[in-house]
Amino acid sequence: MHRDEPPRGGDLRHVRLLVIDDDPQALPLVEMALADAHFERTVEVVPTAAAGLPKIKADAHDVYVVDHRLPDGTGIGLIHEAKEAGIDKPFILITGHGSGALDEAALREGAADYVEKHLLGTHLERAIRYALRDWQTNRALRDREERLRHAQKMEGIGRLAGGVAHDFNNLLTAIIGFTDLIIERLDPLDAVADDVREIRKAADRAAALTRQLLAFSRRQFMEPRVLDINEVVTGLIRMLPRLIGEHIETTTRLAPHLGRIRADPSQMDQMLVNLVLNARDAMPAGGRLTVETANVDLDDEQVAAEGLTIEPGRYVMLAISDTGVGMDAAVRARAFEPFFTTKPKGKGTGLGLATVYGIVDQSGGAVTLDSEPGRGTTVRALLPVTTMRAGKDAHAEPPAALDGAGSEMLLLVEDNDSVRQVTAQTLRRRGYSVQEARNADEAIEWSRRTSRPPDLLVTDVMMPGMTGLQLAAQLTEERPGLRVLFISGYTDDLSVAHGQFPTSAPLLQKPFSPSQLAERVRFVLDLPARRT
Ligand SMILES: Nc1ncnc2c1ncn2[C@@H]1O[C@H](COP(=O)(O)OP(=O)(O)OP(=O)(O)O)[C@@H](O)[C@H]1O
Ligand SMILES: [Mg+2]
Repeated sequence: MHRDEPPRGGDLRHVRLLVIDDDPQALPLVEMALADAHFERTVEVVPTAAAGLPKIKADAHDVYVVDHRLPDGTGIGLIHEAKEAGIDKPFILITGHGSGALDEAALREGAADYVEKHLLGTHLERAIRYALRDWQTNRALRDREERLRHAQKMEGIGRLAGGVAHDFNNLLTAIIGFTDLIIERLDPLDAVADDVREIRKAADRAAALTRQLLAFSRRQFMEPRVLDINEVVTGLIRMLPRLIGEHIETTTRLAPHLGRIRADPSQMDQMLVNLVLNARDAMPAGGRLTVETANVDLDDEQVAAEGLTIEPGRYVMLAISDTGVGMDAAVRARAFEPFFTTKPKGKGTGLGLATVYGIVDQSGGAVTLDSEPGRGTTVRALLPVTTMRAGKDAHAEPPAALDGAGSEMLLLVEDNDSVRQVTAQTLRRRGYSVQEARNADEAIEWSRRTSRPPDLLVTDVMMPGMTGLQLAAQLTEERPGLRVLFISGYTDDLSVAHGQFPTSAPLLQKPFSPSQLAERVRFVLDLPARRT
């Protein structure tokens, strides 16, 4: 589609006209008036208001041409009823004998235009074009407003959830940390150990929930890598039987030579699991789950037609379809809303699709939803194809076998007391010397007067005052060779959006367990020295 053509949805090269008029001459009159029109058309005629109203409510026409004098009512009355029913398509009132009063009344009821019958030949075609143009403009405006409102709502809820999750991650880091420290010291056969392990499991579940919150609020730290989404899907398929049970048949159609995307693999897992679980829940009596991937080349026309908020270009599509119960319009409209669920209390949190939305959005893509009651559901994620090559992101996984002990000097900066204490205790128990600081100022001050320079700075990212990033920049300047490990569970939109956070910086996400912490510390200390 070219830019100078009218926008899609309004690109009505083919106009569906409904004429409501009992005059047998109405159809030939309209046909004649439109003989030279630049648009193709289908014209349907009904003689009465009673026949017209259901057709209007079915909303299958683009323009209505309504005679004022109908056998069973007035044209204005009909327009009034149609508007009440929420029909926003344009109405053109026609009449044998016009009057200024009628013209005004038509306008008041929201008619797009008013044409006297003897003028149809010269005026109708133009009236239709203008009416459609206005309708398109209005609809585009309304769509934009609707999208904006939705974005603002998501933003507000996201901010709230992100804040809650931030606090939760600090609490959970302390709970998980201290619990693990207890478990390390207990005899595994001690009955108390079982109880403590239950605490630990509950904390893990809370951590998973917090991750969901952060994901949909788009405040989850992303560790993007160049990925083949087919591999992510294949990995998940192996888990499927356990996840969905055997009453559901699974088909996968994975496109060969699929473009690479840049996304966080654990977020991709999270997205897939959420979609698959929804499909499972929609098919209690069994059915078919289809997972499909494809390369798609989105052009302007498709982007506009689907109301997508992404740029035209190359995308990888991941579609999850089920043959389940489907959604009606009311559920469809709210499905992505956080905490919206139709599932019984205790069954669903309503965060599944909201999370999917957040993850895809944060990855630069878009989600579409196709669903009809009784017809099943398809959710499609479109993720932008990257030209980056695999291996460019420097987040190599630390090898799992490390026990994480050492004797180096560590400088630990964290404003949350319990997180700092549990972190320090974990590291000291593994042999490290740990200097604690509650903020950047304390850290800098200690670093300047210490006789034993730190080998590694372990710092929270978000702190009051100087951030972890700024602190790291300053300390590494004062002490070249100092290594840095960032810890955080939360980021504000800014650092994600503007890419402030160097993707090559080692980062440990909260909540973390003592062994994850120790492993990551050892890993960073063992990285080969960087030449500057
Ligand atoms: N595949 C599907 N088929 C039919 N309805 C669906 C499907 N996926 C989602 N829905 C509808 O959308 C609602 C919201 O889905 P969402 O995944 O956000 O939350 P949930 O599944 O209810 O709870 P949670 O995922 O947090 O456990 C669901 O309650 C359901 O009504
Ligand atoms: Mg769900």
